[in-house]
Amino acid sequence: MLITKLFLGFGVFVLGSFSFENPFSQDNYIKLNTETAVVSKLQSPGKEIYADFCMQCHGANGKGDTKNFPPLDGSDWLKNKRNQSIAALKFGQSGEIVVNKIKYNSSMPAMGLTDQEVADVMNYIMTSWSNKQTKVVTEKEVAAIKK
Ligand code: HEC
Repeated sequence: MLITKLFLGFGVFVLGSFSFENPFSQDNYIKLNTETAVVSKLQSPGKEIYADFCMQCHGANGKGDTKNFPPLDGSDWLKNKRNQSIAALKFGQSGEIVVNKIKYNSSMPAMGLTDQEVADVMNYIMTSWSNKQTKVVTEKEVAAIKK
């Protein structure tokens, strides 16, 4: 009997020590959920704008067609030219541009989006697919960008 008790006690001890290292512990879940919630809150208003205004050219996967339509997923232009990207969405963009070492010489019309909608769709494309920009675009920032 004593042996069984000791054995059980040992078992509980072993299990107990495992739970300290459990990677799926409550704390980690909470941390993950908060990060996901922040990204999806950033994305939600722009997601619909993207589907309505951008998807037909840049694709649902943001990869463009590497011929007429440049990619947004992994785009060095979008990553490095924040102001020009905002300007492109406010005023349209045409003429030669180089995105990820490929030349495009086409044109994107201005789509008549409000400053808030430009900010929303920028926040969507900057945090979608493999893009992980963290500095949020605000309506005020968009309003300050001139042609
Ligand atoms: C009619 C097709 C079309 C639509 C619709 C369109 N684009 Fe574009 N977009 C283009 C083309 C073509 C270029 C490259 C223009 C050039 O050659 O100067 C471009 C360039 C860009 C660029 C800069 C280059 C890059 O790939 O990073 C961004 C950012 C961009 N578009 C985002 C958007 C967003 C966001 C929307 C929706 C609000 C949108 N586009 C809608 C065709 C389109």
